Amino acid sequence: MEEKTTAKKVMLSGIQPSGDLHLGNYLGAIKTWANRSELYDCYYFMADMHTITVRQTPADLRRRTLEQLAIYIACGLDPEKNTLFVQSHVPAHAQLGWVLDCYTMFGELSRMTQFKDKSAKHADNINAGLFTYPSLMAADILLYQPDLIPVGQDQKQHCELTRDIARRFNNLYGEVFKIPEPFIPKEGARIMSLNAPDSKMSKSMPDGCVFLMEKPEDIMRKFKRAITDSDTENCIRYDPENKPGVANLMNIYAACTDKTIDEITAEFEGKGYGAFKPVVGEAVVETLRPIREEAQRLITDKAYLSDICKKGAEKANYVANKTLRKVYKKVGFLQL
Ligand code: TYM
Repeated sequence: MEEKTTAKKVMLSGIQPSGDLHLGNYLGAIKTWANRSELYDCYYFMADMHTITVRQTPADLRRRTLEQLAIYIACGLDPEKNTLFVQSHVPAHAQLGWVLDCYTMFGELSRMTQFKDKSAKHADNINAGLFTYPSLMAADILLYQPDLIPVGQDQKQHCELTRDIARRFNNLYGEVFKIPEPFIPKEGARIMSLNAPDSKMSKSMPDGCVFLMEKPEDIMRKFKRAITDSDTENCIRYDPENKPGVANLMNIYAACTDKTIDEITAEFEGKGYGAFKPVVGEAVVETLRPIREEAQRLITDKAYLSDICKKGAEKANYVANKTLRKVYKKVGFLQL
C-alpha cells in the first residue's frame, strides 16, 4: 500500500562567526534549534558573509567559522539530521541578496536598529553592506522557504522586514516565497549583560558576557560579580523594570534549568543575592560543561568538520538554487 507522505515544515537560522559564541546566542537561539529534526527539516548556517560588514581578521574568521560548526554540533545539532553549512559556500545567498536589494526600500533599511547601532559603533566604516545587510538576511531566509526562524528578540525587526519583502515580491509575481514566522523563546529571548543589565549580552562587552568555551572558574567569577540591584531589598523577585539585574539572572536560571519563574521565586524565598548568584553560575557552568568538552574534541578533527561543510553545502545549494531559479525567471532574466 502506498503511504501518504506529508512534507515536513522547515526551520532555518544563522549566527555570524564574528566573535566567540556566548550565552545569549545559546539561550536566545541555538538551544531552541536542537531536537527539532523529527518535526522540521532544519537548516543552520554560519553567516560569514554578514561578518565582513565590519572589518575582520581573515585567519580569525576562518578559524571561528569552523569552531562555530563544532559548537553547533556539540549543542546537539546532529549533522546527519540537520543541514549545517557555511553561507559563503552557497552563492545563491549573494545572488538573491542582490535581487532583494532591488525590492527593499531605502526608508525601510534606514529604520533598522542594528544598522543604527552598528553605524554608531563603527562610524569610520559605514559601508553599503552594513546598510543593505537586511536584504541579504532576507535572502538567507527566503531561499529555503522556511516556516519558522528561531532567533533572539534583537532579530525580530529583520524577520519582519523579510516578511514585508516577501509579500511585496509575491504581490508582484505570485506565490514565490513562503512567509516565515520568527520564533522567539520565552526566557532566553534577550539575555542582558551581567555587569550592565540595561544592555544586551554581547561580545563587545566581554566583562558582562559569558562565552560558551569559557573556563568554569571564569564563569563563576562573572556571576559572583554580576550587578544585582541597588535597592535595599536583597530579595529574589521578578521585576524586570525595577530589578533588571535580578530578573536577568532569573531568566538565565530558568532557561538553563527549565524551571519556571514562580518555581525560582519559591526556591529562593527568604534568601538574598549572595546565595542566588553562585547557584545561577553553577547552573550555567553545568549547562555549558558538556558543550565545551564536546566542542573541544570536535575542533581537533578538521577533516570531519570540512566533510560536514561539504555535505551541508551540497544540500543547501540544491535547495537554494531551486528558489533562485524561480526568482530569476519571475523577474525576467533570460534562461539558458
Ligand atoms: P547574531 O549573529 O548577532 O546573533 C545570533 C543569534 O543569537 C541571538 N542573540 C541573543 N539572544 C538573546 N540574548 C542575547 N543577548 C543575544 N545576542 C544574540 C540573536 O537574536 C540571533 O538569533 N542577522 C543575524 C544573523 C543572521 C540570521 C540570518 C539569523 C544572518 N542571516 C537568517 C536568522 C536567519 C545576527 O546578526 O545574529
